[in-house]
Amino acid sequence: MSTLHAGSSSPGTGIFVINRARILVVVSLILTWTIASLLPRYKQTVLDLGRERYNDAIEHLPAVKVDWHPKYDPKSQFNASKVALMIEPRPLPHLVPQILHMISVVPPDWRFMFIGSNKSVISVSRSFATQYQEANGKLDLVVLPKPWSIESKEGVYRLLTDLRFYDEFMPEAEWLLKFESDSIMCARSDDSLNDWLHYSWAGAPRSATDRFAGNGGLSLRRISAVRQILNFQARYNDTEPEDEWFGKRLTVLPGAKIANGQQEDHFSVESVWHEKPMGYHVRDGGENLADDVWKDPQRRKENFEYCPELSMIMPMKLERERCEGDNKQGEIVGERKGGGRE
Ligand SMILES: *[C@@H]1O[C@H](CO)[C@@H](O)[C@H](O)[C@H]1NC(C)=O
Ligand SMILES: *[C@@H]1O[C@H](CO)[C@@H](O)[C@H](O)[C@H]1NC(C)=O
Ligand SMILES: *[C@@H]1O[C@H](CO)[C@@H](O)[C@H](O)[C@H]1NC(C)=O
Repeated sequence: MSTLHAGSSSPGTGIFVINRARILVVVSLILTWTIASLLPRYKQTVLDLGRERYNDAIEHLPAVKVDWHPKYDPKSQFNASKVALMIEPRPLPHLVPQILHMISVVPPDWRFMFIGSNKSVISVSRSFATQYQEANGKLDLVVLPKPWSIESKEGVYRLLTDLRFYDEFMPEAEWLLKFESDSIMCARSDDSLNDWLHYSWAGAPRSATDRFAGNGGLSLRRISAVRQILNFQARYNDTEPEDEWFGKRLTVLPGAKIANGQQEDHFSVESVWHEKPMGYHVRDGGENLADDVWKDPQRRKENFEYCPELSMIMPMKLERERCEGDNKQGEIVGERKGGGRE
């Protein structure tokens, strides 16, 4: 009251202000009591509404269609000749964060294609973030029609060595980045994927002197070179993996430029360690780690410090969960030997 009074210029206005203030207090009290008495009922209605909407959302999520760009094709923002491809039939829990991370580290002009089973496509499309990327033209989620099959590795090899696949599903692509659920590109790398476009094929070398640094787990391929080979050669069913098959032919293809283990050893690290590679492929999701890259604890620590994203694609244990007597190189010292891998 005194503050109200102090502000007024004459006694008359002062009394008026006090009266108005009193009325306001009474009115606001009545309002508060009324609202308070209504509250439990109101709360219940909001909860019911929320539950209803939530149930609706769960049922409809995979079928959500967003049309935020009615006026132009959102895909035209990106370069149709650059496609990052992941093929994965299993609905693995880390697919969404992995795809989103790859979208953030691959140069922005690239488009992404996820080819999955019904199950894995539904699991990836449940996230709002992937729905956004899909609506924005950045990402396509694809279930291939029969007779294509990606359920086995052999099925994927057949797909990638079949000209019809490239014709039907990526007719405009010239550069293909193929990554798998156990490969990752590092945000801290100084390399850009676009620095490698002059190669016909680049990937991880299998040895330091490998003539063909081309492991397919994280690899860049030029579709024109792939087509050149597929135009006159066919892979026999149930033979070697597609990357090795292509490797043998690409290394003798006139004009093809192939990354080799001696010069280009840091596109992707898998069996041969290299400082600060652009990315890693951890064989079989970390179940079959290469000693040169992962056995030494200091080297392992440096890998994780340089590329913390690795922990997204590897099964991890905390330091404090180590087995007793673990020598940090995958062996238990003293007692019987065990496979206490990180
Ligand atoms: C797509 O990228 C390639 C390689 O960087 C470039 O030569 C080409 O002009 C780009 N296409 C478009 C439509 O921007
Ligand atoms: C995926 O689901 C569709 C429709 O539910 C079905 O027609 C198709 O055969 C399924 N594909 C596979 C590979 O299971
Ligand atoms: C290889 O398998 C495919 C089915 O995936 C079949 O259509 C094709 O005829 C087979 N090729 C040969 C040479 O047997």
